[in-house]
Amino acid sequence: MNLTRRPRRNRRTEVIRNLVQENNLTVHDFIYPIFVLEGANKKEEITSMPGIARYSTDRMLDEIAACVELGVKAFAPFPNIPESQKDRFATQSFNPEGLFPSFIREVKKNFPEVILVTDVAMDPYSSDGHDGIVDNGEILNDATLEILGKMALEQARAGADIIAPSDMMDGRIGFIREKLDQHGFQNVAIMSYTAKYAGAFYGPFRDALASAPKFGDKKTYQMNPANSREALLEAELDTVEGADYLMVKPALAYLDIIKLLRDNSHLPIAAYNVSGEYAMVKAAAQNGWIDGDKAMMECLLSMKRAGADIILTYFAKEAAQYLKKG
Ligand code: PBG
Repeated sequence: MNLTRRPRRNRRTEVIRNLVQENNLTVHDFIYPIFVLEGANKKEEITSMPGIARYSTDRMLDEIAACVELGVKAFAPFPNIPESQKDRFATQSFNPEGLFPSFIREVKKNFPEVILVTDVAMDPYSSDGHDGIVDNGEILNDATLEILGKMALEQARAGADIIAPSDMMDGRIGFIREKLDQHGFQNVAIMSYTAKYAGAFYGPFRDALASAPKFGDKKTYQMNPANSREALLEAELDTVEGADYLMVKPALAYLDIIKLLRDNSHLPIAAYNVSGEYAMVKAAAQNGWIDGDKAMMECLLSMKRAGADIILTYFAKEAAQYLKKG
């Protein structure tokens, strides 16, 4: 055949393939979501997330030290709050002596260089299991903002670097930005869960925190998986309200949304490779149906290719180990 163009020439050897590789994963891309428990010397495996556990603060510090050693230095902690401490108004979320602010202080004291991306939403602390105040079956928007503001402020006071509202209430980014600024926290950033979809991939996370909604679903505040223009609207609002980062969640089934925001925003884009996506890969790998390591790296790389600058992933530690091996 007389072919002028032969793309295979650029795939001929590994060195050539490396030269023309367009995207790369590094350990600097990752934020590791972690689950924190009350008490001391505790570790509880999460059945639906093989390899992931809830740790008490003391044990989590060891886990963080191991990650830092591997180069993973950004974490997104989530608190496991005992049912007995939950209430309608998520009161524990703004108790300065509560599990979460105490954990933040402890981490920043031991690892000043570590970056903590702290979740703002009512669900881990809410007896209703919803991200906002429930009134007669309705999720109240504006009343919820007051609670989110208090929660964000306590996290900032404890030493959080980046506040990450995951609740999807309207106006929360502007409200939290103003609250932080009023109290002198101009340097605390906001990573908005901009396009967070109401889907089926959060199940294992809700197992980890026992935070599933007690009734109904989250469709009146999280987005419809069928929509993409709506993601642009959310991105526009978050940007004018002062977000420093935009996030898309989940990641794998929403690579088009990552790309869409990348092409339409100058802000850094984060992708949240959620619990259900992690569980799918782990389950198939445990059955011997796919190569777990390779599937992990391919999924993460696809998020970079789609345009993510940052990836929140339960694979962070394992992927860092994999990258270190070379
Ligand atoms: C809560 C929150 C959720 C996740 C992050 N923050 C669950 C939800 O919206 O129900 C899910 C993360 C995951 O599945 O890994 N606001």
